[in-house]
Amino acid sequence: MRGKTRRDEIVGEYRREQITAIALIIATVVLVLSMMISCGRSCTCGEEADEPYVPPEGVVVWDKEEAEAIKEWWEEEEKLNAPREAPVLNAEDIGYLRSVTEYPRLINKENPLPTGYEPPELVRLQGMPGGVKQQLNYEAANAFFALRDAMLAEGMSVDPLSGYRTYDEQANIYNYNIDLRIEKGMTPEEARDAVSTRVAMPGYSEHQYGRSIDVTIDGSTDDLFHETAQGQWIAENAHKYGFIIRYLRGATDVTGYDYEPWHLRWVGVEHAEFIHRHNLCLEEYIDLVLQYNPNAVMRYE
Ligand code: DAL
Ligand code: ZN
Repeated sequence: MRGKTRRDEIVGEYRREQITAIALIIATVVLVLSMMISCGRSCTCGEEADEPYVPPEGVVVWDKEEAEAIKEWWEEEEKLNAPREAPVLNAEDIGYLRSVTEYPRLINKENPLPTGYEPPELVRLQGMPGGVKQQLNYEAANAFFALRDAMLAEGMSVDPLSGYRTYDEQANIYNYNIDLRIEKGMTPEEARDAVSTRVAMPGYSEHQYGRSIDVTIDGSTDDLFHETAQGQWIAENAHKYGFIIRYLRGATDVTGYDYEPWHLRWVGVEHAEFIHRHNLCLEEYIDLVLQYNPNAVMRYE
């Protein structure tokens, strides 16, 4: 084997210098690039480093999470406000509808209660906040106690806000709502229009029938009740106790009233189960019953 000559030593030294120079160049490039990248992510250099980024007017900054939340909300809204569709019935459903001989009493804008109507067997909803002032017919009251007990067993609760109302009490509520809007600048006609989908005229309210109750968690009635845990529980379980949400969302054309997730109407478990399963308004349910059993009669008392 040949020994290391002076020439070899000079070439080796030259190569080492070359390698060191290349390594230095690479290190410099990497450093500059990483500075550029980090500067691009969050610019902390320059005079505006501490200023939060404010997009120019009209420029919408894309926030993926927010956009997804908005999309979800929008889809839910569209679903809830979609035009009402006829229910899909199977043979069992039709058999059930044929078997209904008596359906719940309908009280709405076309079907007022008779003058002077008072429900039989009213009882006070004692033993719960505000209950001592509220009354319901005893069947509806028992069902309400059972519903509330079931909620309590699951660590939540709703309180009765407004149960049975006399004709005069309904008249006061109606007039109060009209006057409030007139005070705010509406004409009497505009006020009547605005109130018409929210408060029933005296004689036309289910509350006078004694089987309807407004429930609350904070002393008020609010459209957002359906978004609370209690509101969702009610929507999913009230039928097991014979109650339906009487004024469904997106059904003003059918019921005459806006969505009221807090207004429960007692109709009895059998009717309520079917109504819930097919997401029906009481008007739609009665139409179906009469379609399959024209001899069915309305419950009067
Ligand atoms: N808010 C319901 C429609 C009533 O006044 O009876
Ligand atoms: Zn109500």
